[in-house]
Amino acid sequence: MPDAKLEAQPPARQESDDVMLEVRNLKKYFPIEKGLFRAVKGHVKAVDDVSFTIREGETFGLVGESGSGKTTLGRCIVRAISPTSGQIFFRLPAGELVDIAALPKRELRDVRKYFHMIFQDPYSSLDPRMSVLDIIAEPIRNNKLLKANRDIQDRVRELMTVVGLDIQHLNRYPHAFSGGQRQRIGIARSLAPNPRLIVCDEAVSALDVSIQAQILNLLEDLQSEFNLTFLFIAHDLSVVEHISDRVGVMYVGQLVELTDTDSLFTNPKHPYTEALLSAVPTTDPEIKMDRIILPGEVANPADPPSGCYFHPRCRYAQELCKREAPEWKEVAPGHFAACHFADELELRGVEDAR
Ligand SMILES: Nc1ncnc2c1ncn2[C@@H]1O[C@H](COP(=O)(O)OP(=O)(O)OP(=O)(O)O)[C@@H](O)[C@H]1O
Ligand code: SF4
Ligand SMILES: [Mg+2]
Repeated sequence: MPDAKLEAQPPARQESDDVMLEVRNLKKYFPIEKGLFRAVKGHVKAVDDVSFTIREGETFGLVGESGSGKTTLGRCIVRAISPTSGQIFFRLPAGELVDIAALPKRELRDVRKYFHMIFQDPYSSLDPRMSVLDIIAEPIRNNKLLKANRDIQDRVRELMTVVGLDIQHLNRYPHAFSGGQRQRIGIARSLAPNPRLIVCDEAVSALDVSIQAQILNLLEDLQSEFNLTFLFIAHDLSVVEHISDRVGVMYVGQLVELTDTDSLFTNPKHPYTEALLSAVPTTDPEIKMDRIILPGEVANPADPPSGCYFHPRCRYAQELCKREAPEWKEVAPGHFAACHFADELELRGVEDAR
């Protein structure tokens, strides 16, 4: 069994009233089973001791390369899967913070309606045999929010209007819609039970750039209209730039940097963030980008390197980095990074790279 000990790790617990979600020392280890008797030979440390908070009404961006643990973290937060250890405090409408990682199934059922996850591929997450009406109505029916069919239909029409879908298409099936429209159906469905937190997992990644912008605008409008809090997951930093208030960067199951979006983009404190930023496309074709190409692959979360997990790919790595894991520390107010040399390195932000 992996170490379930809870180590004290900043950022420390915030007692302030505006916290919507507080994740503390969260771990999700998937066992690697081998042989006839399925003996456990190790663990994929998909999320490995992650702590952060999201404020009410905030959009928190989460970025990192494929396999860094973003989806696993999101799925733990909406309790689609159970974390191995750690806490997930979630604020209920009455103001109480409850640890949804520790809630028994029965109580979890009562609070599930307050958080929802939407996925990259709206087609695979929408049942092709269900009409739009049934897809959007399902969470209303499951949570017994409305009983009369007439009321449910009215609510579905209202939700379709809110997300910009034509209510005439109520009885159509998902295949009749474009990718952007399907994502709108997914969003309407997620809004049906009046959630407080929505985890958007690569929600716009599969869409054309112009459609992406429309969906991002819609999410922003809905956020202010319904006072929603977003955890916005993407591997593309340019997607999170415009929508996020703060951004966390993940590498091999851990957060390596976290700060407000502006500071992250202009004044990164972790070499991994610097490399990701150098790949953000510029809108000005005159500007030649100076991209940092990272050598090698993302480390294996079942067998990560010694010391700083990023050291085999880091252009600033020193001997110390191979031996010791860097601490997660506050390098400026509200700006956290896990790098031995975060205070000394002069890293390039987007302005310098563009
Ligand atoms: N159910 C599972 N069983 C075993 N390993 C898993 C499981 N789900 C995820 N993993 C592993 O956990 C690690 C993190 O995966 P995850 O899907 O969370 O990453 P991600 O950051 O969302 O990647 P992507 O950008 O490709 O979506 C990967 O090594 C993945 O193979
Ligand atoms: S601790 Fe060392 S290897 Fe890790 S990011 Fe910082 S400089 Fe690079
Ligand atoms: Mg993912």
